[in-house]
Amino acid sequence: MSHADDTAGSRRDFLYYATAGVGAVTTGAAVWPLINQMNPSADTRALASILVDVSGVEVGAQLTVKWRGKPVFIRRRTPEEIQAARDTALTDLVDVLAENANKPDADASDANRSLDEAGEWLVMIGVCTHLGCVPIGDAAGDFGGWFCPCHGSHYDTAGRIRKGPAPRNLPVPVAAFLDETTIKLG
Ligand code: FES
Repeated sequence: MSHADDTAGSRRDFLYYATAGVGAVTTGAAVWPLINQMNPSADTRALASILVDVSGVEVGAQLTVKWRGKPVFIRRRTPEEIQAARDTALTDLVDVLAENANKPDADASDANRSLDEAGEWLVMIGVCTHLGCVPIGDAAGDFGGWFCPCHGSHYDTAGRIRKGPAPRNLPVPVAAFLDETTIKLG
């Protein structure tokens, strides 16, 4: 990738993220850094992990938070979205790996992508695996998931690449529920 491409990609990232951020505020959900005051490396830790309050995220809505300089999509999927993702055969996928930091080497079946067993919560780094734009959500694209308008990549309701130039599924970061309404990233 040339330097010029790199710069353009970063600028697009920022613009899309700024738009997504407005949506995040209107959900009423909050994000705050996890700070360990007693530790000298608190600054580093604050950057490494954050807690996200998802109590305000309704079914069918997405919260976007910024983590380690990147947007992270947290979507509370509808039963239809979960069903569509779980009904998809692995043979229909471009990238058959889960790309999930919590489950290294797992296959890309929907159960290996979602955060909870029921599959309601999907957490992903919101950066297109083609050249780094931020895909549009809210049931976008040909597969009802996310769509990257930069070069036309379509992701399904599990964030798996289905059509277009992107080579890999949207990555799932290290994440876990700390309690019913709090997700820890990192
Ligand atoms: S950056 Fe997303 S399709 Fe090219």
